[in-house]
Formats: sequence, structure tokens, C-alpha cells
Amino acid sequence: EAAEKGGYDHFMLKEIFEQPKAVKDTLSPRLNKQNDIRLDDITLTKEDLDNINRVYIVACGTAYHAGLLGKNLIQKYVNVPVIAEVGSEFRYNDPFIDNKTLMIIVSQSGETADTLAALRMAKEKGARTLAVTNVVGSTISREADDVFYTWAGPEIAVASTKAYTTQLVSMALISLDMANKKGTISNSMYHDLIDELRDTPAKIDKILDTSDEIKKLAEEIYNKDHIFYIGRGIDHDVAREGSLKLKEISYIHSEAMPAGELKHGTIALIEDGTPVIALATQDKLYDKTVSNIKEVSARGAKVIALSMLKNKEIDQSADRVIYIPNIIDDLAPIVSVVPLQILAYHVATLKGADVDKPRNLAKSVTVE
Ligand code: G6P
Repeated sequence: EAAEKGGYDHFMLKEIFEQPKAVKDTLSPRLNKQNDIRLDDITLTKEDLDNINRVYIVACGTAYHAGLLGKNLIQKYVNVPVIAEVGSEFRYNDPFIDNKTLMIIVSQSGETADTLAALRMAKEKGARTLAVTNVVGSTISREADDVFYTWAGPEIAVASTKAYTTQLVSMALISLDMANKKGTISNSMYHDLIDELRDTPAKIDKILDTSDEIKKLAEEIYNKDHIFYIGRGIDHDVAREGSLKLKEISYIHSEAMPAGELKHGTIALIEDGTPVIALATQDKLYDKTVSNIKEVSARGAKVIALSMLKNKEIDQSADRVIYIPNIIDDLAPIVSVVPLQILAYHVATLKGADVDKPRNLAKSVTVE
């Protein structure tokens, strides 16, 4: 097993560090020399897409959090309403599905029972189905009309890391390809986003280089009982993933909140020294999130902000800052989640937790 870990203490850490390569492996086969997206694995034509008037994205756990970025990108660039739902709820909420529905299923293993059941229901009701999965030949990959493989390579640690970042990249490729086929995105925006996608492995690498600094932050918070994550828009989606990572492996109670929703309840839990991880990567939401940082700071929270290098001055509002390289806002999650994975990892190891095999959790949940 030590050999399989390739010199890392845990599979999770190894998989965190494999992300630049994993992301490249997801991207490279889908980009041609002209920097256009070529999704040979997806048979959806422009006519098929023109027929679609609603998209569902259904997944569980970390895969659901990746789906949330897909919702955002498809609504923004493809101009079609998207409903994202967790697999365990989808069938019981009277979903609107007909032959004008595209059902996108996201599942690392391709075996999650609730997600599979959602796929089957959607097919029965006439939806077109597209699976985004990491495991070739999995049940979900066999049953969906189209399959997009994330090519992350085997993920052993229960807490998902490289599967998630490659799912995010997959959602971006699928959304941009749909938008390009439908003509709902400008050529320049389409190519800017592709250029940015190509740069993501190098940006992830830069963050991996700061692992020791993130460990110092972990030392400051690992003995706390509650840690909150806040953010707005897609920062909130990443906050949910960061919070999930932390609670899965460290057993510290954690919640992720939309930053503006905090004052409707959760702010009551902020005490002197309560850690709040505040994501502020999105230009259009930056000022509002900074004012939420000030709100929690005023109540004694110890704020660790996460923002882009261009927002240097955020260090005046937060106790600590994690800077990520500048990146186009819509793709920030691919990079911003990485320091949160590293933080969760170090918190858990400082607590002496069994990082790769957390209690009560399974890599693949095949019961409903
Ligand atoms: C379990 C795993 C998570 C994963 C979720 C969905 O809870 O521990 O890491 O996100 O299942 O799994 P899937 O294979 O469908 O992505």
C-alpha cells in the first residue's frame, strides 16, 4: 500500500497533488489545435440541443457540488433553465421531465444508487440522458445515452478531490460546447474561457506549492468545534464542498452558508474565535461578501478569507488570507477548492483522524 501511495502519507494527499495532471487528462483529449472543444463522446447535435427546454443535473455529495457549477454555466451561456437536485430527493419532488428534458448525471463511481435511480426515472419519462462519470463500464455509464468520462484516474480516498476538480472541468467543457453549438456564446468569450481552462493545471500547481502555509492555518483551527464557510454565488457552491471535505475527514462540525443568509440564523453561533472561511473570488459579489466578513469579524469570528491575488486589500478585513492566482470568475472553483481540500487534509491529520477511511462513510453508496 505504501508503494501505491507514491511517497505520500495518504491517498487523499496523493490525489490532491495529482490534480494538475488529472485536469490535463480531462482537457487534452477534448481540445483541438485551434483551441476548439471537440466532444467526440457526446452525440448531442445542435438540433437535439434546440429541442431541449430544461436541464436537470442530478448527483450526490461532492458530485452534486460539481453539478452546481454546471447549473450556473449552462444557465448563463446556454440560456436554458437548469434544476440541480440531489439524487436522494429528485424522484420524490415530482420532477418535470419529458422528451424536451436533458438529464445530466454526475457520479464519480457511476454506481450511486439514488443517482442511478434518478437516471432510470428520467429515461423512462423520455429525457435525453448524459452521464459524467470517472469509471469506465460503470452501471451509469452503460445506461445513459451519452457518457463523458472525467479521466481522473482511480480515486482511492473516500473524500473526493481529483474527481471533483475534473467534474468541474467537465461541466465547463460540456456547457461551453453546448453554448457554442447553439450560438448562445460569443466567439471571444468561448475562446477566453478555453484559454483559461488550459491554464488551470498551472494555477493548481501554484496552490500546491503553498501546502505548508495552509498547514499553518490548519494548526490555528484544528481544535475548534465548529467551522463555518461562507460565500455568494459559485463561491457558495465551493464553500459547500470545502465544508463537506472538512467534516468528512476531521469530524469537526461545519456548515456552509450563502454569505448573505448568515444573518438569518447562523450568525447567532459566531463566538469569539469561531473560524469562518470566507470565499470572495467573484468580482460582482466581492463588496457584498467583504461586508459579510466585517459582520462576522465584529462578532469575534476569526476570518480566513479566500480571494484572488488581485484583491490584495482583503487582508485588511480578514485575519488571514488564502490567495489564489487570478482566473476568470466563472472558472474560479476549479482552483479555489484546492486550498480548501489541503486545509481539510491538514486539520484531519493534526487531529489524528483516519483520513483515507473516515468513519461511517463509503466511497460508493449503493443503497438508497
Ligand atoms: C459518497 C462518497 C462521496 C461522493 C458521493 C457520490 O458519499 O463518499 O465522495 O461524492 O458518494 O458518489 P459518486 O460516485 O456518485 O460521485
